[in-house]
Amino acid sequence: MTLTPEEQALVEAARQVRANAYTPYSRYMVGAAVRTADGRIFAGCNIENASYGLSICAERVAVFRAVAEGAHPIEAVAVVTADGATPCGACRQVLIEFASNPAQCRVIIATPEVVVAQYALAELLPHAFR
Ligand code: THU
Repeated sequence: MTLTPEEQALVEAARQVRANAYTPYSRYMVGAAVRTADGRIFAGCNIENASYGLSICAERVAVFRAVAEGAHPIEAVAVVTADGATPCGACRQVLIEFASNPAQCRVIIATPEVVVAQYALAELLPHAFR
């Protein structure tokens, strides 16, 4: 799957941040990165808690880091897992909240080695609540 240099950088950021995932309970490491309209990249990993429900997904950490820096809207997303998983429903809703155009926002799904799929964000959460 061919990626632009910007998309490649986004995947690389997600791969790198995944190493910081705090996952003593699930052992399932996730890295995510979002590119904002100003061209900056914000990365996040999943962070679990002994009180399991307090755990947060990598995608939301990445989005919230961007928003806290005043850097939205989001124009592209990369998610890296061992098996090429797509974002959970809660994260899809949060990504859509901050996407400039969900139909144009690329979601790149990758493993540490390869890119496995690409979607438009709107495809992943059709008829989203806005
Ligand atoms: N997780 C994510 O980080 N992103 C998702 O989209 C789905 C799940 C995390 C939450 C938890 O730490 C682990 O993966 C297993 O569910």
